[in-house]
Amino acid sequence: MQYVNELDMNKPNGDERQAEERQEKGRCANRYSLCNPYGIDEKTQRWVEKIWEKLSVKLEAECIRLGTMMPYVPVNGKYEDMGQRELSAWTNGFYSGILWQMYHATKKECFKNAAEGIEKRLDAALAEYTKLDHDVGFLWLHTAVADYRLTGNESSRRRGLHAAGILAGRYNPAGRYIKAWNGERSGIAIVDCLMNLPLLYWASEQLSDNAYRQIAVNHTEMALHYILRPDGSCNHMVDFNPVTGEYRGNPGGQGYESGSSWSRGQAWAIYGMALAYRYTGKEAYLDAAKRTAHYFCANLAVHDYIPLLDFRAPEQPVYYDTTAGACAACGLLELAEHVKPLEKDLYVKSSIRCLQALTENFCVWNPEEDAILSHGSARYDRASDREVPIIYGDYFLTEAILRLRNQDFLIW
Ligand code: GLY
Repeated sequence: MQYVNELDMNKPNGDERQAEERQEKGRCANRYSLCNPYGIDEKTQRWVEKIWEKLSVKLEAECIRLGTMMPYVPVNGKYEDMGQRELSAWTNGFYSGILWQMYHATKKECFKNAAEGIEKRLDAALAEYTKLDHDVGFLWLHTAVADYRLTGNESSRRRGLHAAGILAGRYNPAGRYIKAWNGERSGIAIVDCLMNLPLLYWASEQLSDNAYRQIAVNHTEMALHYILRPDGSCNHMVDFNPVTGEYRGNPGGQGYESGSSWSRGQAWAIYGMALAYRYTGKEAYLDAAKRTAHYFCANLAVHDYIPLLDFRAPEQPVYYDTTAGACAACGLLELAEHVKPLEKDLYVKSSIRCLQALTENFCVWNPEEDAILSHGSARYDRASDREVPIIYGDYFLTEAILRLRNQDFLIW
């Protein structure tokens, strides 16, 4: 994981940063002996290289074909532009995230040019901000903030700070939570939001203003109490009275039912809590990430390392969600970076087993066809985007493979 600490007052600008990275790469010519942060063995390294070869060919072909499109789910192997239909959709940043990760790894300009175009297209969503929700984190961490982190572009920094202001403005002090949605649903907070919080940690550092960070911490504490369960599973949602802050229950969400265990929510919890630990150093968050990781890995182990859409749904029909696996694989690698050396193996090996199961069974490598990872599911009760390729599955697959090559950068 390559991490740029923006608090550093002597930080280099974008060009200087890239020059430093090139030097670093030179030092890491034998990457796996010098720069193998997860300590993977040679056989696994060869597997990673094989996947990388196919991934990079496919993503370059997509980059040329898609331009500044914002893909979601392909229809007959072709992406449509979600940006034209629903510019504020929460998924519209993920393709840009892929492009910035690829630009960082390869330095090929086509990735940067396309990502810059997407960032500008999203300006209209920022201006028309009433349609936005808490997923401004997913949208602008993967676009403007990624751009700023890699290039030092000032207008990208301003876009990112604007988005962080919107996220902070969603905080409800009565219930100490960030509301997921608007209007009648403003009493709901959801596990997914843990992944939006890095936008607040970033803004806090940028502005030397603790308020953003405090909101992120308060929301994380709320999630520990009302969303994560003691056995390592988690709720998707919690409902508060938005006026008094009183707890009203845990309604069902995108999983099978209230009390079940929606696997992507579990993945958000692993990765989100591991990131909360990265930014705060609070042991309770690391313990929470471990607990939910153990629960996830135990469920993977009894299903050939392929996540069901919900770990507590009836045996039939069997629905998978590969996006949960790809996201959890990244979360497990993040977690491995924070635990003691003798604890790492469990998380790294589980992550790799899951990635291998996904790539053996569910990847489409034909460069002419859009999307890579099939069998992603948006939610249990909707057939239209159940067991289909979904853009965020491809994002997390890309991040995971780049992590294993030590070529990713911290987008969160
Ligand atoms: N953030 C919404 C989802 O995971 O589907």
